[in-house]
Amino acid sequence: MSPARDRIGDPPAGDLLKGGAVVVTGAGSGIGRACALACAAEGASVVVGDIDDALALATAESIARRGGQARHHRGDVAESATHEALAEICSRDFGKISGWINNAAFSGGALLGETTDEDWQRIQAVTLGGVFQGCRSAITRMIESGAGAIVNIASSAGLAAEPGLAAYGAAKAGVFSLTRNAAVEYAGQGIRVNAISPGPIDTPALGSWLEAFPGGRSAFEAQIPQGRLGRPEEIAQSAVFLLSDRASFINGAALVADGGIHARLASPRSLPG
Ligand SMILES: NC(=O)c1ccc[n+]([C@@H]2O[C@H](COP(=O)([O-])OP(=O)(O)OC[C@H]3O[C@@H](n4cnc5c(N)ncnc54)[C@H](O)[C@@H]3O)[C@@H](O)[C@H]2O)c1
Repeated sequence: MSPARDRIGDPPAGDLLKGGAVVVTGAGSGIGRACALACAAEGASVVVGDIDDALALATAESIARRGGQARHHRGDVAESATHEALAEICSRDFGKISGWINNAAFSGGALLGETTDEDWQRIQAVTLGGVFQGCRSAITRMIESGAGAIVNIASSAGLAAEPGLAAYGAAKAGVFSLTRNAAVEYAGQGIRVNAISPGPIDTPALGSWLEAFPGGRSAFEAQIPQGRLGRPEEIAQSAVFLLSDRASFINGAALVADGGIHARLASPRSLPG
């Protein structure tokens, strides 16, 4: 496979979310951090949530250095108190909650038969429970204002099987279902809820997994029709779009952003180019 030839570029900052206030969970690293920065670049104030206080602070400081407004909060998304605190900070300091990105997750990494009860429960509590709690906290506030948009970060692993990700895949499949339900239940109150299904994205979370892949990163990338991993910023742009009025009639959708992986039939033939 030849090196990736597609265009990769960060769009100039705009005002797609001007005047908005967005909560992002797991925003200390990777996709969540990129989402927080992209929302701020599009004019929103941002509440940065993460279980790691130093990482959350660093993202908030990056936003402030670029002229944006941000607060940070340390908390575990498995706990409802975390979401209530994030919602409270956003409403109190920024006067509203117009957007919410449920991004934090825990993947584990064992075959089904070797998954412990503890791992199963933790993965469901963080990866699915965290999205449930985040949706509930966001929706109760958004109902009061009569508007809002939520983006849930799901995964390809919720659409198809990946050995070692049974518990995580089940939780992510649940994220798609929760997204559809929330979208249908609250559409009449001006709230849109959508999911993004990222394929492999170049974040710290993927690092050890890539190292363990036979042939390493380049062999892995050769399996992707676009010939490369995705960038966190590319998922962030999809999230900004779904939060913005440009997506005003998109509700309950699952936007697949995976470089073409799911579009391809499994086949022993190598890719051209
Ligand atoms: N990277 C990928 O290839 C990929 C692919 C598909 C889906 N995703 C999804 O994208 C999202 C972000 O993944 P990433 O790759 O950016 O990960 P990452 O490890 O780079 O960042 C995750 C962030 O979430 C925080 N976090 C972890 N557990 C938390 C908890 N219980 N409460 C609050 N914060 C917590 C971490 O401290 C970290 O800052 C996840 O939902 C993940 O499942 C990632």
